[in-house]
Amino acid sequence: MKRNELLSQLRETDPARLNALWQAADATRRAHVGDDVHLRGLVEVSSHCVRRCTYCGLRAPNQQVRRYRMHGDEVLEAAHLAVQLGYGTLVLQSGEDPQLSLRWVAELVRRIKSETPLAVTLSLGERARVELETWRLAGADRYLLRFETSNAELFARIHPPRPGAVADRLTILQWLRELGYEVGSGVMIGIPGQTYDDLTSDLLLFTQIDLDMIGVGPFLPHPATPLGTAVEHFDDPEQVPNSELMTYKVLALTRLLCPTANIPSTTALATINRQTGRQLGLERGANIVMPNITPLRYRAGYEIYPGKACLCEEPGAYDTLLRAQLAALGRPVGTGRGDSAHWRHRQDAPPARDDRPDGGRSFHAQAG
Ligand code: 5AD
Repeated sequence: MKRNELLSQLRETDPARLNALWQAADATRRAHVGDDVHLRGLVEVSSHCVRRCTYCGLRAPNQQVRRYRMHGDEVLEAAHLAVQLGYGTLVLQSGEDPQLSLRWVAELVRRIKSETPLAVTLSLGERARVELETWRLAGADRYLLRFETSNAELFARIHPPRPGAVADRLTILQWLRELGYEVGSGVMIGIPGQTYDDLTSDLLLFTQIDLDMIGVGPFLPHPATPLGTAVEHFDDPEQVPNSELMTYKVLALTRLLCPTANIPSTTALATINRQTGRQLGLERGANIVMPNITPLRYRAGYEIYPGKACLCEEPGAYDTLLRAQLAALGRPVGTGRGDSAHWRHRQDAPPARDDRPDGGRSFHAQAG
């Protein structure tokens, strides 16, 4: 798909043509990754964060968050719960928390891998190459780091860097690839200042950096953040709306562009439409759900945006509900680790195909 075609799909309003887009995404999903929906147990390990991202409720200056850091034993307990619930993957997510040290995380990953058959996905923010390498050697399988927007100027504006550090997520994504991780990234939809042209570039960048996993969700304003009260872009016709409809468009186009990637129906989507968002995402391109299995006593402390759909769902009860929803959609629950088909194909293919000398990195330079 060319840039112009993507742009016009993002602006599409005709119900029949939108319906054709949903159908195409659903057929592509079925043909390339099948009907199975893989479930990942999500554990929000720490809500401490040293960063000041202007959209995120966990940003360091926000004093209204109840900060917590789980004990290693509590994470192991959650891992065993994931096994009990039949999940093949444990996702460990956190704010950017230096106290989750190289050694602590490595030891935790080693314990999970030795006590369970789970695949382990890390999502711990921008970390040093030596940490990513050590965790990979300890057994971590996958890493998630959204680039949030391909517009370098917008990225810099919403991600004030740590003093002395340059945030270059595309470089980190390239490291993850080199280290043999299954690599996931993604964007928010409707960030104040994000244009249709930016979002089109985001979609093209998904293909250029050849992602295994892609998560997209609407930007949800958090009142305790600078962007939570931003209004200056609302009447700009180029501003992408942070709407449910726009989220489905991006989800569907992502599936068409990256047919073998694992794509979750995200919590942010389930938050803007609590009744059917999760299901509609699965019918418009997604093949993954990440049930939150963080101990309930910590949930309210991980409010990256308000009204998060999973604040009080007890893991066992939510699992029952989710399985009923999937059965109603005619979608079987996947068994095993649910590795990305994209990643598996790459393991089989000779590496010579991925021969861009810069791994697609020139894109940010162009955008910026
Ligand atoms: N609205 C929507 N998504 C958000 N994220 C963080 N803050 C918000 C928000 N206010 C997303 C980011 C991050 C992921 C873990 O959550 O894309 O990468």
